[in-house]
Amino acid sequence: MHESSFDRSAPKPELYASLAQSLEALIGDEPDALANLANAAALIWEALPGINWAGFYLLRGSELVLGPFQGRPACVRIAMGKGVCGTAAAKRETLVVPDVNAFPGHIACDAASRSEIVVPLVANGKLAGVLDVDAPKENRFDEEDRSGLQSVARILISRVNWNEI
Ligand code: SME
Repeated sequence: MHESSFDRSAPKPELYASLAQSLEALIGDEPDALANLANAAALIWEALPGINWAGFYLLRGSELVLGPFQGRPACVRIAMGKGVCGTAAAKRETLVVPDVNAFPGHIACDAASRSEIVVPLVANGKLAGVLDVDAPKENRFDEEDRSGLQSVARILISRVNWNEI
């Protein structure tokens, strides 16, 4: 079973490398998407300092619907193109938002959130959902977070059975 061993004060590239390694190990040969996304949210929550929400919104029909997460209860449905999540999903582009209050249409699920990063999950050319991480401080996320969380997304894209979720 997973043993917690993250050095949260390590430089970000190191921290993301051990996060990716733990995620690979935790998934193992488990194909269940829901279980793997739930563990991924828990692992991100455990590994990254200074965050107040980490989780997934999954594409259901034409909108994003709340998936496995850690943090306070959040908005359930987000329309494509709305908020940071809907914009990242529509553009299929990672968005790093240094100040959520300056992002037009930002959806405030938790009033404490000040900065945010959203990574789209695109499997076999199809949008499956987004990975969303929020922080209670402005400018929490940078290029190292972008590449670290994109690696997490790549692991999930290749290892999760998206047809069953
Ligand atoms: N802030 C997001 C909504 C999701 S929560 O942060 C968990 C947005 O603007 O899309």
